[in-house]
Amino acid sequence: MRFYIETYGCQMNQYDSRVVSSLLEREGWEKVDEWKEADFILVNTCAVRQHAEDRVFSRLGIWGKYKREKKPSLKIGILGCISQKEGENLIHRFPYLDLVAGTFVIPKISQLVKEALEHRVVALEEELLEIPPPEIEEDAVTTFISVMRGCNNFCSYCIVPYVRGRERSRSPESVIEEVKKAVSKGVKEVVLLGQNVNSYRGFSVRDGRCVDFPELLKLVNKVEGLYRIRFATSHPKDLSDELIKAVKELDKVCEHIHLPIQSGSNRILQLMNRKYTREDYLRLVEKIRKEIPEVSITTDIIVGFPGEGEKEFMETVSLVKEVEFDAAYIFKYSPRPFTSAYSLKDDVSKEEKERRLNYLLQLQKSISKKKNDIYVGKEVEVLVEKREREGWFGRTRNHKSVIISSSLPLLGKLVKVRIVRNRKGILEGYFR
Ligand code: 5AD
Ligand code: SF4
Repeated sequence: MRFYIETYGCQMNQYDSRVVSSLLEREGWEKVDEWKEADFILVNTCAVRQHAEDRVFSRLGIWGKYKREKKPSLKIGILGCISQKEGENLIHRFPYLDLVAGTFVIPKISQLVKEALEHRVVALEEELLEIPPPEIEEDAVTTFISVMRGCNNFCSYCIVPYVRGRERSRSPESVIEEVKKAVSKGVKEVVLLGQNVNSYRGFSVRDGRCVDFPELLKLVNKVEGLYRIRFATSHPKDLSDELIKAVKELDKVCEHIHLPIQSGSNRILQLMNRKYTREDYLRLVEKIRKEIPEVSITTDIIVGFPGEGEKEFMETVSLVKEVEFDAAYIFKYSPRPFTSAYSLKDDVSKEEKERRLNYLLQLQKSISKKKNDIYVGKEVEVLVEKREREGWFGRTRNHKSVIISSSLPLLGKLVKVRIVRNRKGILEGYFR
């Protein structure tokens, strides 16, 4: 039997899809890259914005039609955040769905898929099952490792706490074991994932105490054969001095912090329940840059949150100019059921959200370009991750993308690259 899996949303979802694939493959399922070749189509979904949901529903439409008209034996399953959010509704809304599985039941996926071959299955239990580590993909140089799940922050716009539940951390031992296993398969870089890694508290089974995130970094830093460690995401309200110190002092931990600001207006930050002010954020950035001069700071921004007027938007603009982020992911506010902001009037028009989005995108583009230009003529250390058409692709320690023209076998190597050009946000260089 063959399965196909398509993934939407965050890095955690990509990780979960690998867990699903590994579990199915262990049961003898074969993974295919073309959905038309599959006996079972799975889609791992995101509910963070309506747009992400719409994309999934349009895919389901295509697959449903194919099943109806061409291949009645085809099975279709929806996994992840939309399933957890919509639940049972999905079965009624999409008569061709065979499986609806939420975010908590991933470890049971092979059983669920098997049952779905017989009859329609809905699995939304919020049990806290241990997530078995996925197999490492062939030739992977860098890999995600989930260290904690869920979120307790309840930002007023965010659905994550409702679809992924409260925070829970893996034990440091199980994280280290997964890192070591990855390294033994050739991985050189791990990206430690959590919706809010600052609040990682892993109960150590060995010595019966809690390990926090900076301590976890220290433990991972000791793994031999590993070159680099990255992590995401950090919440500005509790990014500790210890974490800054860990990034500064641990040789494998890369100089990059993803630090979502969301808005530059104190009034909006308060409505968002972010628990910090613009001034707190600016002080934090100053402190990080003082300690780690070569650090990259990237961010997330939401435009058009309820009540965001021109004044508040311009405060975000001025913050972006002041901080000069290395990169920013900018989103239009999308009301989400269950969240507290859902009761606020979504009063910024679609057109105005679009205008603000484009304004910030343009601004950030020029800032990113300026920040990348600094590297032209310089030599940087790059970890080579994959082969692309134009050359080898890799990243600097502070997360800049680099294309290297070289015919040497560089996969998985740390190389010194002379940057000659900055083109469309990607540095180009050569290695000799
Ligand atoms: N609307 C728009 N963007 C959102 N994000 C989270 N919830 C929403 C929403 N309701 C953005 C935030 C977060 C990123 C992962 O997605 O910027 O940091
Ligand atoms: Fe990831 Fe959040 Fe989207 Fe779920 S809703 S996939 S946790 S970004």
